[in-house]
Amino acid sequence: MSYLPDREEKKQNFMYVQINYFSIMKVLMVCLGNICRSPLAQGILEHKLKEKGLDWTVDSAGTGGGHVGLGPDNRSQDIARVHGIDISAQEARKIRYADITAFDVIYCMDSSNLVNVRDLCHTLEEEAKVKLIMNESDPGKKLDVPDPYYGGPSGFEKVFQMLDRACDAIIENHRDKRH
Ligand code: 4NP
Repeated sequence: MSYLPDREEKKQNFMYVQINYFSIMKVLMVCLGNICRSPLAQGILEHKLKEKGLDWTVDSAGTGGGHVGLGPDNRSQDIARVHGIDISAQEARKIRYADITAFDVIYCMDSSNLVNVRDLCHTLEEEAKVKLIMNESDPGKKLDVPDPYYGGPSGFEKVFQMLDRACDAIIENHRDKRH
């Protein structure tokens, strides 16, 4: 039987070729919907890298497919803008196995995302790439970035502050990746 990729898969494949495989460091941020937390994480890290003149590849994806093709939640866009970061061009997509091999490290926003992403892995080496993002700034505490979707604006500010701290630590902890 011939295999025909569906529309989502074609789109994902298209997005795939956008990855710069020659980047010194390729980071994927993951949450559930890819509309609240991981787009912020992507935007914050990209912003910091640009300020420092570092040319890493950063992307984000969700473990669920319910929001594929949508832009970030308005509340995430708003809180990013308040802090001088524009995340409006991002588009939600669902993580797939090829992401596990393409990226050097995959930062999950919470322990549920972590379990779901590790389930996609084929080897222990791949599983070792999948980490909780807050472990970068707060090692050993197993902190989740709380899902702000059903809460108010203060939840988004809290998420921003946590991710800002984690992204500073990501850059500091990978000081050797200077290109
Ligand atoms: P995210 O937030 O995982 O940070 O993008 C959520 C977005 C949507 C839903 C849950 C969490 N939802 O249930 O639709």
